[in-house]
Amino acid sequence: SSRHDLDEVRVLVTAGGTREPIDPVRFIGNRSSGKQGVALAAAAADRGAKVVLLAANVEAAVLADVSERDDVRVVPVGTAAELEAAAQGAAPGADAVIMAAAVADYRVAEVSDSKLRKEDSDAPPVLELVENPDILVGLVRARHDGQVIVGFAAETAEDADELLERGRRKLARKGVDLLAVNAVGWVQGFESAENAVQVLDADGRMVREIGGSKREVAEAILDTVVDELAAARRE
Ligand code: C5P
Repeated sequence: SSRHDLDEVRVLVTAGGTREPIDPVRFIGNRSSGKQGVALAAAAADRGAKVVLLAANVEAAVLADVSERDDVRVVPVGTAAELEAAAQGAAPGADAVIMAAAVADYRVAEVSDSKLRKEDSDAPPVLELVENPDILVGLVRARHDGQVIVGFAAETAEDADELLERGRRKLARKGVDLLAVNAVGWVQGFESAENAVQVLDADGRMVREIGGSKREVAEAILDTVVDELAAARRE
């Protein structure tokens, strides 16, 4: 990109999916590859930003796009708790925060120190789960003047109207400045190279609609961040 509309802007991006351990060898995870978050980090850096990328279990091959650049600092994390600690540490120094990571809503209440063995139990185990904190809501509460916070909503929906409605409800719950809503299902969204996103502003207005490569989607989301940063500066 030849644009330099993020020069000197500090951007925090989260990518990938958290893994919540069950025992030393097993976890509860999700299908997020981290591709959209990495595309956001790369695009932001190309537009001049200084980027911190919190990468939750992102494969090295996906990270390769940013791992050699000195304008992107990659911090690997595993669990939601690790992601939260890293995000809380980095957010005060960020002008824009983009929470693209898929965070587990629940973690295992008591993680076993040793491998759970079938031989040792006569019935299938029942895992007790406890709720993880909503990292995004915490960041919104701690937001400093002028900071722009972007959330993601990956939803399964019957049609475009239901998707938008779910997005608007999530927007109200999270209190973010921008929400990128995308449809996910068994065959789209997560591992694929393509994505389709609608970006809502804080009033629920759709300010961008974009389908294409994750890089193209990233550029469109960053366009809305640039607009929000400019609006915040005018206030
Ligand atoms: O509620 P839902 O998980 O759909 O919200 C998605 C958005 O909230 C994403 O931006 C995700 O990174 C963030 N999130 C979070 N902490 C959680 C769950 C989701 O920050 N525990």
